[in-house]
Amino acid sequence: MRKIVIAGNWKMNKNLDEVETFFNVINDTYEDRDFNHVEVIVCPSSIYLRTAKDFLFESNIMVGAQDVSEHTYGAYTGEIAANMISYLEVPFCIIGHSERRKYHNENDSLINRKLKALLDESIIPIICVGETIDQREAGLAVDTVEKQLDGIFEDHDFEGEPPFYVAYEPVWAIGTGNTASPQDAQEIHSVIRKWFEKNMSKDFADNVHILYGGSVKPSNIEEMLMQEDIDGALIGGASLDVDSFQDMVDKALNMR
Ligand code: PGA
Repeated sequence: MRKIVIAGNWKMNKNLDEVETFFNVINDTYEDRDFNHVEVIVCPSSIYLRTAKDFLFESNIMVGAQDVSEHTYGAYTGEIAANMISYLEVPFCIIGHSERRKYHNENDSLINRKLKALLDESIIPIICVGETIDQREAGLAVDTVEKQLDGIFEDHDFEGEPPFYVAYEPVWAIGTGNTASPQDAQEIHSVIRKWFEKNMSKDFADNVHILYGGSVKPSNIEEMLMQEDIDGALIGGASLDVDSFQDMVDKALNMR
């Protein structure tokens, strides 16, 4: 049975005081809660990964990085290697986010190599895919997402449990307040699951966690999570405020 995954992507937000306050509040709230069917992940800026680990070491909340280098070490100013993330015992890392694609010209072939870098360190990648508004309006949403999956997973072979999560994040829904309708999101999630069925196996596809991202907030998270192929949410703006984040985690905890 797939878990519900609630992941907060803080992007380039918060100062150290704000980070610590958030974790103090969340630690107090969830001290004795049962997180059997829900996984909660917070992805702060990499400069706070160590702090996040220190604050959350006895907590049910897990930590993720927001990006990784394809390289293992060397002269790559500003980059972070997968082994640096694993040294901190940070179990997750987002790759392929549309903001990385847009502002840093990342493409599927680079994301393919980042995927390898993370898997080599046993870090669970949260792999983002999704179409732009132009692609959707041209009727190319399905095609775009399938092509992204083709490129990202080329030459990757898997056995057993999927060692990654996928996040469907339509670019036009990110930070805009324009959430995809639950039906539109479900349609693409089902396309993604079928892609894994076709290219890996039915069993593998059934076990892939596929999160939805793009203007998820307390008022719409439940209807998203009720869709058959939506296994969680990758949340930007609404994950920054601790009350709003907790509200969404509580809603997930109360489901099933
Ligand atoms: P948003 O961001 O929730 O602010 O739309 C989602 C994301 O970029 O992961």
